[in-house]
Amino acid sequence: MSRDRLHRLTAAERERYAASHPASRALFDQASHLIGRVPMTWMSKWSGGFPLYLDTAVAATVTDVDGHRYADFALGDTGAMAGHSAPPVTAAINRRAIERGGLTAMLPTEDAEWVAAELARRFGLPLWSFSLSATDANRWAIRVARLVTGRSKILVFSYCYHGSVDETFVILDDDGAARSRPGNVGPALDPTSTTRVAHFNDLESVRAELEHGDVAVIVTEPALTNIGIVLPEPGFLDGLRRLADQHGTLLLIDETHTLSAGPGGMTATERLRPDIVVLGKSIGGGVACGAYGLTEAVAARLGEHTRAGAADIEDVGGVGGTLAGNALSTAAMRATLSEVLTEQAFDTMSGLAARYTAGVQATIDRHGLPWSVSRLGARAEYRFASPAPRTGNDSAAAADPDLDEYLHLYLANRGVLLTPFHNVALMCPATEAADVDLHTGLFADAVADLLGR
Ligand SMILES: Cc1ncc(COP(=O)(O)O)c(C=O)c1O
Repeated sequence: MSRDRLHRLTAAERERYAASHPASRALFDQASHLIGRVPMTWMSKWSGGFPLYLDTAVAATVTDVDGHRYADFALGDTGAMAGHSAPPVTAAINRRAIERGGLTAMLPTEDAEWVAAELARRFGLPLWSFSLSATDANRWAIRVARLVTGRSKILVFSYCYHGSVDETFVILDDDGAARSRPGNVGPALDPTSTTRVAHFNDLESVRAELEHGDVAVIVTEPALTNIGIVLPEPGFLDGLRRLADQHGTLLLIDETHTLSAGPGGMTATERLRPDIVVLGKSIGGGVACGAYGLTEAVAARLGEHTRAGAADIEDVGGVGGTLAGNALSTAAMRATLSEVLTEQAFDTMSGLAARYTAGVQATIDRHGLPWSVSRLGARAEYRFASPAPRTGNDSAAAADPDLDEYLHLYLANRGVLLTPFHNVALMCPATEAADVDLHTGLFADAVADLLGR
């Protein structure tokens, strides 16, 4: 592939993007009181120099303020995996907010127990607590793990992402040494002092770190999803469980993104036996939420410490958020889990992701490209490497931001949105085969243009 051609084509796509989105551009230019001109700094990641401004979003479609409609495969980076404003969710919000009243009141509602029971049924862990983000659920669960094991460290995989959890911003460099992830913003201390790091799909590297005997909990997604999709090799997840047991370490499975695998995430599809499960984003249908679940054994140990006065889980001990578990959030989770992200919906979504993956693979094959596409239930992603990367470091090395920008702009200019982080595409229950086929055709055209064929 000619880099000159890539840059020429990208420049043309940038011009087309700027010319066809004057209203978004104007709003961006006027935003002088926002850091980076955006409500959240990661919104600067959208290609094209400025983000599209949202007008409406319904089902699997968003419309920007310039009146362009998009098949939305970004879906709020999983926050909208239930689809935009799914009717059962908006009805539940309406019932809670308007008919009954009470968005947050320091008081439980009956919805919380329903949601916890449903999560217990799906994931097999009996006891749950709520947060307003997956980040917080991870933070609090890590505190619980340190408390009940009496150990100070956690183990993560190089190039993992679990939200803005201080202890997780660690990678292995080219020499295999752990170090703070490049760009880590203002760490309180060197995260290698809190965290051990291993390579995903490399049980020997996990064993070597656990042998120090100071790791409270392994924190991992069952497949990495935040550095492209890195699927676990056969035996890897079972091996993690075995190593954790051998070393008195807990296993936390963060299913925030991998819930795309099915109603009970990969915990159910792979029959995992985690001590702790973390969820967030999609289970509230777009309303802020998060949750962590504990086994009976971990909960019992937490109870002992609490009763002994060593852990204040009711007030200022570090595991609480004022609005966590609020009435609106739990009503939204109940509606999402009972009526939207159902077993049947996951079947449809996975089928569409398979169709998407086959479409991408056909283009890769037609041109003999050294690329790969991986799928995790309703989520699919292409990487510029073949075979598909097997560790976070391999996947990081396959990144090509220039190519990402070209493809993202090419698609956006023709009515398809991908997540601005690498090349993730997610299906929701309202995604249609026509949306997938639109992507397939555009992806083929973009690649053909790039190769001059
Ligand atoms: C696996 C995983 N865990 C946790 C989080 C944090 O989610 P949130 O930003 O909603 O707190 C993310 C965010 O992308 C994630 O991918």
